Amino acid sequence: MTRSRWASLAMIPLLAMGQASPAEPSGARQLELRHLLIQDCGSCHGMTLKGGLGPALRPADLEGKPDELLINTILLGRPGTAMPPWQPLLTHEEVVWLVEQLREGVQHD
Ligand code: HEC
Repeated sequence: MTRSRWASLAMIPLLAMGQASPAEPSGARQLELRHLLIQDCGSCHGMTLKGGLGPALRPADLEGKPDELLINTILLGRPGTAMPPWQPLLTHEEVVWLVEQLREGVQHD
């Protein structure tokens, strides 16, 4: 039965090749992105992100929702709803960073 053992070991390397975490946006760009989050996203999701035309985006609201779902929603929008695609304006790395901010809770100052 050694053959089947080797067959299953052969599956491992592909799964182990995880994605390296993407580079963070620069400090200046982070300020712009925070502004965007409060002004632009806030115009639908509420200035404090507690919901409006779009659903609430506070940390507790996003609990249990996978990063990929949130990232894809922001990049591609939700066709048939008011949620627009941000891919023309934001890179994947920037959206990953925005989702991190949403999960940590955006400071309103
Ligand atoms: C024009 C209004 C509008 C703007 C601007 C907008 N959204 Fe949305 N967003 C929506 C709506 C409406 C939905 C809900 C879509 C649906 O019914 O599934 C949504 C859904 C989402 C979701 C999924 C939430 C969930 O619980 O599944 C995320 C995350 C999100 N928006 C983030 C953003 C971010 C980040 C921005 C700014 C870069 C943004 N949105 C700007 C209207 C908007």
